[in-house]
Amino acid sequence: MKKVIAINGSPRKGWNTDTLLKKALEGAASVGAETEMVYLYDLKFRGCVSCMACKLRKEPRPCRCIQRDDLTAVLDRLHEADAVIMGSPIYFSEVTGELRSFLERFLFQYLNYDDYSKPLSSPKKTAMVYTMNCPEEWFPKVGYHELFQRYENMLKRFFGHCETLYSTETLQVKDYSRYHIASMDGDARKVRHETVFTQDCQKAFELGVRLASKQ
Ligand SMILES: Cc1cc2nc3c(=O)[nH]c(=O)nc-3n(C[C@H](O)[C@H](O)[C@H](O)COP(=O)(O)O)c2cc1C
Repeated sequence: MKKVIAINGSPRKGWNTDTLLKKALEGAASVGAETEMVYLYDLKFRGCVSCMACKLRKEPRPCRCIQRDDLTAVLDRLHEADAVIMGSPIYFSEVTGELRSFLERFLFQYLNYDDYSKPLSSPKKTAMVYTMNCPEEWFPKVGYHELFQRYENMLKRFFGHCETLYSTETLQVKDYSRYHIASMDGDARKVRHETVFTQDCQKAFELGVRLASKQ
């Protein structure tokens, strides 16, 4: 049975990123995968502290993070997983700090300084899921295609596979009239949430199916 783990880099349970990741896991479960959601904001952990223990000259090579905190058990389960789906809202044109810290720990242990082209990770299917306020028309101006391509390339280098899914102009609050948020049309966002976001949920479901499928 395939094991698919979603890593949620959003602090908001039940909101956009969470919903897409849940849909992706539903898709994976629909083709028989065992699934798990990890909420990074529930965990106490730090990014890589550059202790270099994972690079020590030992046989077999350690290539595993020795830091002990709430992420340790998650990294152990990810090591055995067939697929990992990482999700994050865009915060100031990047993934959240928590997802960045997670990625430092997840990836550095597999980085091979003897030969960068041969990471010490076994193949996995991976995906990055992003949600954001930004309309897609702004991407050339804000560089989000390049941002997403950079993450995709990095994850492909480590695991041999990565897909990207993004959802734009998401619903940020339920009632826009309660906030200083005049640049956004709350009614239009609600309509978009019921239409475009619903389609994005379907795309997330299909992503989960693909990641949990045999090939
Ligand atoms: C601290 C902060 C920074 C943000 N920065 C951006 C940004 O740079 N670009 C963008 O498109 N949206 C930005 N947003 C909006 C979120 O990306 C968007 O609301 C997202 O869908 C929230 O995800 P969630 O519903 O899973 O929490 C920001 C939101 C917050 C709270």
